[in-house]
Amino acid sequence: MAQILPSIFGANILRLQDEIEFLQSEKTGILHVDLMDGNFVSNIAFGPNQIAALKQVSTMVFDVHMMLANPESHIDDVIKTGAEMVSVHYESTPHIHYILQKIKKAGRQAGVVLNPGTPESVLEYLLDDIDYVLLMTINPGQPGQVFIEKSLEKIRNTKKLIANRNIKIEVDGGVNIEIAKKVKDAGADLIVVGGALFNGNAKENYQLLNKAIQ
Ligand code: DX5
Ligand code: ZN
Repeated sequence: MAQILPSIFGANILRLQDEIEFLQSEKTGILHVDLMDGNFVSNIAFGPNQIAALKQVSTMVFDVHMMLANPESHIDDVIKTGAEMVSVHYESTPHIHYILQKIKKAGRQAGVVLNPGTPESVLEYLLDDIDYVLLMTINPGQPGQVFIEKSLEKIRNTKKLIANRNIKIEVDGGVNIEIAKKVKDAGADLIVVGGALFNGNAKENYQLLNKAIQ
């Protein structure tokens, strides 16, 4: 069954603890947390210290989306935050396999992230080393972008590639109520939502998003 993953990057930074408490009361389960370095992507957000602090006031599973150059230099700090799920961009390192192994050895779920321009075929020799694949459905770094429609084909192709392996498909970027249904129908299991959840009435938005993927 598909599920909605709130992206904390879309929440109100001045009310982070309230937002986390709200999400927990809605039993959201998994929280998507963006880590951006101003280098691999233009934006800067949530370093390991801030993620560890958020983790301490939360009972949710943390899904850390690493958007930074040279992830091999930071992976240990990210693991130390306590995040249960950690994903790394395929494009961010020549050593993707090494990092995925490190995440698995630490007992966490490992994910590989693909930018919109990266074909799903690069997953071929990583399929034994991942628990999930995160398909970017916008170019990473900035919230409020428009969902790239071509992603629907990529989700379907990725599902074929995964075949009967126990690997989940996560999507991230530009998802609203209408798109949530489309990506779910294409085969997405984990659906990240930022703006379309937190802008306006979050409680109502969350209910509508959930209804759309039933
Ligand atoms: C963007 C981040 C997303 C972001 C999505 O680079 O990876 O997680 O929060 O925001 P929306 O859902 O508003 O596109
Ligand atoms: Zn993200």
